[in-house]
Amino acid sequence: MREAWIIDAVRSPRGRGKTGVGSLSNIHPQRCMAQVLNGLKDKTGLDPNDIEDVVLGCGTGSGDHAHDIARMAVLDAGWPISVTGVTLHRFCGSGQQAVNFAAMGVMSGQQEAVIGGGVEFMSRYSPLHANGFHANNEHLRDLHPQVPQGISADLIATLEGFTRDDVDRYAVESQTRAAKSIADGRFNRSLIPIYNLDGTLALARDEHPRAGTTLESLKDLQPSFIKMAGYHAEGFDRPFNELVKKVYPNAGALNHVHHAGNSSGVVDGASAVFVVSPEYAKSRGLKPRAKIRQVATAGSEPLIMLTAPGPAAKRCLQKAGMTKNDIDLWEINEAFASVVLKFMRDIDIGNEALNVDGGAIALGHPIGATGGMLIGTAVDQLERLNKETALIAMCTGGGMATATIIERM
Ligand SMILES: CC(C)(COP(=O)(O)OP(=O)(O)OC[C@H]1O[C@@H](n2cnc3c(N)ncnc32)[C@H](O)[C@@H]1OP(=O)(O)O)[C@@H](O)C(=O)NCCC(=O)NCCS
Repeated sequence: MREAWIIDAVRSPRGRGKTGVGSLSNIHPQRCMAQVLNGLKDKTGLDPNDIEDVVLGCGTGSGDHAHDIARMAVLDAGWPISVTGVTLHRFCGSGQQAVNFAAMGVMSGQQEAVIGGGVEFMSRYSPLHANGFHANNEHLRDLHPQVPQGISADLIATLEGFTRDDVDRYAVESQTRAAKSIADGRFNRSLIPIYNLDGTLALARDEHPRAGTTLESLKDLQPSFIKMAGYHAEGFDRPFNELVKKVYPNAGALNHVHHAGNSSGVVDGASAVFVVSPEYAKSRGLKPRAKIRQVATAGSEPLIMLTAPGPAAKRCLQKAGMTKNDIDLWEINEAFASVVLKFMRDIDIGNEALNVDGGAIALGHPIGATGGMLIGTAVDQLERLNKETALIAMCTGGGMATATIIERM
């Protein structure tokens, strides 16, 4: 099979996902995505006429994110009308899936030059998607009841025995690492500043991290998902915590350990990764930074929902003929602290080489945009640390995960 090369990967800064508070929140998601596409163009010198498709992940699909946000961003960027765009939804793994599909298109020989990535403006969400992922399908609701992710994260902590101290320690490490990476300018290479319509600068740096976070400063934060667990949402036959009991009768009372300081930050952002064939790169004199060696997905039980990164990573390693010992760096999305702790337990690794620049607890998780951001961060890390391989994995809604193995070139 042909190789898929990453020429470059860029992203917007992550703005706080609150209307009127977040510095990106006044900008339309299409406009932000368009600026990231043009940032990629300016950085790499890519010719938009050569781009066969722009594949973008978005986990919303309604309101300002509706329809085909990829094509709209291409048009908003002022790119030739010949450049197509397609938008896909794999919940939080949408952006990673978009890059993986871009790679698969190139590997299969069907495409030469594709952009993968994603966009999400969480400042434009309605407060709670209370009708659930089954979208009012009663049959599926009964067959596979699903609850909001924060409850699933607390269920993982309950079943795995992760304490509040465990998850808070993990969160402090995420903040500490992110603060150092920001202070050292490690993200600067991939950041595209985003501008308002009037031409003024909206945001040039991530604005969610809280440098100086300590165990002490997290101590008084109240668990975020107790009230939600007791909520009886319209279209469900019982409250969420009763649904948990129905599927996990032996779990006992939920241990609510997650709060604002150890859950992924709610943010706005966009990402783009330029993926090409070796022949195309050579013909245009483009120097690759990494190659996509293998991609995979995995599914797991949908109520607990966030446990598939381990199985996806194992499948990806197996397909690549590799073991965990062949991986130098790991980027595992910090949807919630318990998700990453469970991943480390499943794969039997520590955190020395995992999320070395911090993760979504500090930086934020702009759902459909995150996958492209993590892949770009991993490319930067491989070069900075002179390492060879990285594995990126993310949990998603519906009980799935995406995985990608990349190799520095
Ligand atoms: C957990 C959650 C509900 C908290 O939401 P929130 O209360 O709006 O969170 P905020 O970031 O605004 O923080 C609230 C307060 O907590 C405190 N806080 C947050 N992080 C802190 C930290 N690291 N140290 C100390 N205090 C902190 C602050 O007082 C903050 O208020 P402020 O912003 O006015 O200073 C939200 O972050 C969430 O849902 N995260 C997960 C998102 C998700 O599900 N993504 C998909 C994953 S699968």
